[in-house]
Amino acid sequence: MRAARCPSTATSAPASDEHTRKPMSDLNARVNETRGILERIARDFSPAVFASSLAAEDMVLTDLILKAGLPITIFSLETGRLHKETLAMFDKVKAHYGYDIVVMRPKQELVDEYVAKNGLNAFYDSVEMRKGCCYVRKVEPLGRALAGNKAWITGQRRAQSTTRLELPVQEDDAAHGMAKFNPLADWSEDDVWTYIRDNNVPYNDLHDRGYPSIGCEPCTRAIQPGEDVRAGRWWWENADSKECGLHLVDGKLIRIKSVAPA
Ligand code: ADX
Repeated sequence: MRAARCPSTATSAPASDEHTRKPMSDLNARVNETRGILERIARDFSPAVFASSLAAEDMVLTDLILKAGLPITIFSLETGRLHKETLAMFDKVKAHYGYDIVVMRPKQELVDEYVAKNGLNAFYDSVEMRKGCCYVRKVEPLGRALAGNKAWITGQRRAQSTTRLELPVQEDDAAHGMAKFNPLADWSEDDVWTYIRDNNVPYNDLHDRGYPSIGCEPCTRAIQPGEDVRAGRWWWENADSKECGLHLVDGKLIRIKSVAPA
C-alpha cells in the first residue's frame, strides 16, 4: 500500500511534512482519549453501533474498535450509488482485520418509487430533490440499522464543515431515541492522516485523488488545492445545505454556530 497522504493538501504538501504535523504526544493523547470514549460506549451503552462511510475518519475508528476487540457492530449504508473504490473497502477491511462490515441497503420499492416519479438523477434539480434521494438511500436505512441500540457512533469532526462547528463528543439523538457519539469531534484532518499512516490503516483510494470527503458517486467530485474539504460534496449547492439528513440536531438538519465579528 502507498504511504497515506493528506488528500486535501496532496497536490501542495504531503501530511508527513514536519511543519504541518502536531507533536506526536498531542496525537497520542488524543488517540488515548478516543480509545477511552469507545471503551466507555462499549461498557455503558451496549448494544452500540458504528456507522462507517468507509472514509478516512471512519477507518481510524474502525482500527481503534477492531484492534481493541470492542463489542461494537460496524455497519455501512450501501446506497447503490457508491464509487467502486468505496465498495472495494469492504474487501480491504475483511482482508486487513478479518471483519465483515454489516451492509445496509435501501428498500428497493422506495428507490423504484423515487426513480419512477423523479428520474434517476433528480438530485441535481433542487436541494429538496437531493434530500429526498438521501432519505431513501441513507436516512431510512440508517433508522433500521440503529433500531434496538443504545448508542451510535459517527466519524464526524468539527473542522469538516460550517454545519459541524458545535459538534459535541456526546449528544442526545432524540430522533432515534439513543445516545450519539462523535469521538473524533476535535481531531484535525492532519491527526486523521497521521494516525492512518502511522498505523498502516487501509483507506479509500479516492483520498489520493483529491477526494477528502466521499459520498455517493454522482454527488461527489474531486476538490482543487485550497478548496474546502467538503467542496466536492453536492458541489452545486450552498455550503450551508450540505448535510444529507443522517445528522439531525434538535430535529433540525444543520448546526450552524454564528461567529461574532472580530
Ligand atoms: S454526510 O452526512 O455528509 O454524508 P459524511 O460523509 O461527512 O456525512 O460522514 C460523516 C459521518 O456520517 C461518517 O463519519 C459516518 O459516521 C456517517 N456516514 C456518512 N455516510 C455513511 C454511510 N454511507 N454509511 C454509514 N455511515 C455513514
